[in-house]
Amino acid sequence: MTDLDLTSKNPARIGADALVVGVARTTDGPRLLGDVLPGRAASALTALLPALGVSGSADEVVRIPAVDGVAADVLVLTGVGEDLTYEALRRAAGSAVRSLAGTEHVVLALPAGDAAVVGAVAEGALLGAYRFDRYKSSDPAPVARVEVATPAAKDKAARAAAERARIVGAAVRGVRDLVNASPAHLYPASFADEARAAAEGSAVTVTVLDEQDLAEGGYGGLLAVGQGSVRPPRLVRVEYAPARSRAHYALVGKGITFDSGGLSIKPAKGMETMKCDMAGAATVLHTVLAAAELALPVRVTGWLALAENMPSGTAQRPSDVITIRGGTTVEVLNTDAEGRLVLADALVAAREENPDVLVDIATLTGAQMIALGNRVGAVMGTEEVREQVAAAADAGGEQFWPMPLPVELRESMKTPVADIANMGDRFGGMLVAGLFLKEFVGETPWAHLDVAGPAYNDAKPFGYTPKGGTGMGLRTLLGLLEAAAAR
Ligand code: BES
Ligand code: MN
Ligand code: ZN
Repeated sequence: MTDLDLTSKNPARIGADALVVGVARTTDGPRLLGDVLPGRAASALTALLPALGVSGSADEVVRIPAVDGVAADVLVLTGVGEDLTYEALRRAAGSAVRSLAGTEHVVLALPAGDAAVVGAVAEGALLGAYRFDRYKSSDPAPVARVEVATPAAKDKAARAAAERARIVGAAVRGVRDLVNASPAHLYPASFADEARAAAEGSAVTVTVLDEQDLAEGGYGGLLAVGQGSVRPPRLVRVEYAPARSRAHYALVGKGITFDSGGLSIKPAKGMETMKCDMAGAATVLHTVLAAAELALPVRVTGWLALAENMPSGTAQRPSDVITIRGGTTVEVLNTDAEGRLVLADALVAAREENPDVLVDIATLTGAQMIALGNRVGAVMGTEEVREQVAAAADAGGEQFWPMPLPVELRESMKTPVADIANMGDRFGGMLVAGLFLKEFVGETPWAHLDVAGPAYNDAKPFGYTPKGGTGMGLRTLLGLLEAAAAR
């Protein structure tokens, strides 16, 4: 874990292992940001930047021996790109700290004049510092200590921003650790145990429904998806209920600890990343915990719909008819469309408590990746909540794009044998899945977030995003709750 502090000391005078300075890309070439280095050293270095291969582009990190007047051992030049946005600084801080794994003490001297920028730099640094080394015999340790240099170090607002960054950093780390965990170790019951352990000592209460409770409660979706596995399903309810609350938000997360596809089995390649199929549930758990840490005046109930989707002699069959909690019947035409089945049960359960707003998050469809790629999530639902989610994403540095729920597509899920089938038109598959969920939310204002692509980074790391679990969605959901708290 990485410690974070603010400092108002002159960053050039701190005897750290590394001093990180930003470089902007301009039409006149690369430009050092902030007046960090003593004047002569700064102009000498600026003249050398092109020869050092420094352009100031995002995700460019170059290390050089410290120049005159710098007390740290190494000077790290991190590209910010052309526009000095909060997100550009977050990413520049993240790339730098990520590339410095194995280093003890890093000072960040990015231009951080006010609390908002301090928060962005601190958040980027902590998200970038993450490493997953649980199963490695030896691996460089994450940066142990980050100091963010800012003249505002003693201001209340800047310290609050740093504290929020610590909470967000810990929450995103929690999500990534769960997503990266091997599905040999993480299965519904062990996930429920992790939730209990994570909530210990916090203001969050955890209730676990086991397979017997699920049978008694008529949770036919969770039971059907889980019945092919020797490791039975769970529904976990996590609640943060402050004495003073402005609204009640219910968050529902898809928690398929491994998605083999079931009898509608996936090809080998498609299964390689399917331990990530519980990212929604992990995000919900850590969003509720973070809301409690921030003591937001909003009641939040989180629902983790946990099951392992496996093929076996006890697995559900294509054409099985199941009954979701509340009585809706579903013909399961494809056992690989399992997320919507467990979510349906959880949405119904969440709605029974009459929340003001209902939001679900899920690695739901391959079609999401076809539509928006690996870095942009989709948001569907009732207009107001959908727009609030998009705005929270925008404000917090995540990308969620609004998508429609065209009623015409509902027809493609018609079946002669049940109320609805679990699949319909292949084209617009993400929207079809959204329309399926819509059947279970009733009149409650609702948004559905599909993060199939962005929840897991199978490609190179970038900015503050590592390989593997990303934690995408947490900052948007937390921002949504913060906005509700501020209304
Ligand atoms: N978990 C997958 C969706 C997914 C795919 C997430 C790739 C992350 C990366 C989901 O359960 C699934 O298999 N969906 C099917 C639905 C189809 C059978 C209607 C899909 O999208 O192919
Ligand atoms: Mn599936
Ligand atoms: Zn799935």
